[in-house]
Amino acid sequence: MKHLLKLLDLSTEEIVDILNLADQLKYEQKHGISHQHLKGMTLGMIFQKASTRTRVSFETGMYQLGGHALFLSSKELQIGRGEPAQDTARVLSRYLNGIMIRTFEQSEVEDLAEYGSIPIINGLTDFCHPCQVLADLQTIREYKNKLDGLKFCYIGDGNNMANSLTVGCLKVGMSVSLACPDGYHPDPQVLEFAKAYKNFKLVADPKEAAADADVLYTDVWASMGQEGEAEKRKIAFKGYQINDDVMSVAKSDAMVLHCLPAHREEEITAKVFEQHAADIFDEAENRLHAQKAVMVRLMAPGK
Ligand code: CP
Ligand code: NVA
Repeated sequence: MKHLLKLLDLSTEEIVDILNLADQLKYEQKHGISHQHLKGMTLGMIFQKASTRTRVSFETGMYQLGGHALFLSSKELQIGRGEPAQDTARVLSRYLNGIMIRTFEQSEVEDLAEYGSIPIINGLTDFCHPCQVLADLQTIREYKNKLDGLKFCYIGDGNNMANSLTVGCLKVGMSVSLACPDGYHPDPQVLEFAKAYKNFKLVADPKEAAADADVLYTDVWASMGQEGEAEKRKIAFKGYQINDDVMSVAKSDAMVLHCLPAHREEEITAKVFEQHAADIFDEAENRLHAQKAVMVRLMAPGK
């Protein structure tokens, strides 16, 4: 594995290897065992969109691994004034040991990887959010002690989260049911990938998708960059909510996850959110551990 651009690029073995290392690093951190695998290294973090979890977990993770992280707002970089990603990649490759980028176009992340000579990590694009899903899988495995054979249900927008969750969950042997309204289905590339899996289903009815689910997941109705569509989307997504009615058809011990930030009473009720706050904030914590594993595998492959 040279980069983390999207989960479609990873084998099941690579995903499981990252989850295993993430568990080990989490254990070490909780027990005060130092793991300075990236001593003396620097990660550049380019942000074209807002972030709380991604920024803080990468920066803290890099520090815990003995390295250093640089926050690079695209507004203050020449890339924000039109310097091509190809040139930015070649320049930053001379200074840094890795780049994490959060941006709009997936092609920008792929360009950095093509032209740079250091590992590139996708910290969210309009197409996908692989770091989040690695943390999600780590959390599901912690709670359920397995992944293979579990039923995963996603309700809401067929967005970057739905794309990465579909690929990640199918690759580790889970069955995946998505409930998305017409016009808001996942990316065609993801649907093409999922077609080969008998245990994949895309339906319109949230309760049909949630039936017997072990894990339920949702995300905001309007993602970053779609603020102008918020009102239209409130109408399109009415009913695409994790609430008591949906929970009543899932397994009685089902967990509920949300990548955050959450909009209470839109995609999830405040009641269900608070009932599952432990799952959701363990999930947020695991961003730190999963991303540390990704950085070690990419930036210090021998460790
Ligand atoms: N879930 C997630 O990526 O959060 P941030 O947008 O705060 O980074
Ligand atoms: N779909 C959301 C995810 C945020 C982590 C967005 O792109 O804004």
